[in-house]
Amino acid sequence: MSKLFSPVQIGAVALGHRVVMAPLTRSRAVQPGGVPGALMRTYYDQRASEGGLIIGEATSISPSARGWYGAPGLYSDAQVDGWKAITDTVHAKGGKMFAQLWHTGRSSHVDVTEGAQPVSASVDPTYWQDTTFYAASTPNGWLAPSPHRALETGEIAGIVADYRHASERAKAAGFDGVELHGANGYLIDEFLQDGSNKRTDAYGGSIENRARLLLEVVGAMASVFGGDRTAVRIGPNGRWNGMGDSNPRALFDHVARELNGFGLAYLHIIEPRVRGNVVVGDDQAPVAAEHLRTVFKGRIMAAGGFEPETAEAIVEKGDADLVAFGRHFVSNPDLPDRIRKGLPLSPYDRDTFYTFGAPGYTDYARYGATA
Ligand SMILES: Cc1cc2nc3c(=O)[nH]c(=O)nc-3n(C[C@H](O)[C@H](O)[C@H](O)COP(=O)(O)O)c2cc1C
Repeated sequence: MSKLFSPVQIGAVALGHRVVMAPLTRSRAVQPGGVPGALMRTYYDQRASEGGLIIGEATSISPSARGWYGAPGLYSDAQVDGWKAITDTVHAKGGKMFAQLWHTGRSSHVDVTEGAQPVSASVDPTYWQDTTFYAASTPNGWLAPSPHRALETGEIAGIVADYRHASERAKAAGFDGVELHGANGYLIDEFLQDGSNKRTDAYGGSIENRARLLLEVVGAMASVFGGDRTAVRIGPNGRWNGMGDSNPRALFDHVARELNGFGLAYLHIIEPRVRGNVVVGDDQAPVAAEHLRTVFKGRIMAAGGFEPETAEAIVEKGDADLVAFGRHFVSNPDLPDRIRKGLPLSPYDRDTFYTFGAPGYTDYARYGATA
């Protein structure tokens, strides 16, 4: 009897199995406007399963939060309508769907923000000068991020309000819950980690201060959905995208401990063996979930470099309750079914992760079918 295919309750949401579709930016929202269209609906429809959870791709909370050409948003009526068609499709298949809320912070480019300068915790010119850190997806191709500025203390309440408004729109769009993107070097992570946060106000310095923005945003999201339909994604030890912290264990222990107070649907933990969308430590055990299991009291979702066997092993051992798969879901729309039946997985094509249109997006076939 597979534990991976046993039911699990995450906060207010009942799931039939534990194979989760990880948030995957795929750049196929209709531009300009970042509106989810028919192509995105087909893609999510293909990947929905009875009792399965899909976490939607990272979704911008406001025009100035954008940072990725082709990424969708949750700040306009047209976006709400586009997402509603998608959540309806997922629900019709018996699935559940959370929206992942995104502020891209310093990784953005003025070509995708209608000219607004990217913001971060603090200013670090090496981030935009050293092109090995990150490339921003823009209508004019992959470009070095634009020079950023530090958010004024007085502006932070407005950012928190943007997360609240996006949560309201997520609710109107029929999502079952919301996940805060707190990983991979975007705004929330930039505030958390002291390599990028050099502030001297109430949002910088001590671990308590650096976690303040994350906790205020979680409070805002939970005020809309309830804590039991709110979730957080973190990347403890996440070094990708220019991140680094002098004491990641103390930082993320504090975050996990404070999150216990919200009664979250789940805490989503990216293992340090992956960086962004690349595996860097194939043999490394899933250490982050194993450790935070001792700190966080609610459901834990592990992600990063899982295969069917290692996913079964981590839920069996009890270090995680759910496992999110990223790249395997790109190329296997029927992934839960394939894992349950022990069927072979189709390989993904990295070259079409972030291209536009159907090729490499909706043309991966279910097992035994032609696309
Ligand atoms: C094409 C692609 C897009 C991604 N987009 C996001 C995203 O929007 N939000 C996020 O939190 N992580 C994103 N990630 C990271 C994945 O959610 C996941 O953590 C990573 O792929 C490792 O899991 P895997 O080994 O199962 O692929 C992306 C990864 C890939 C491959």
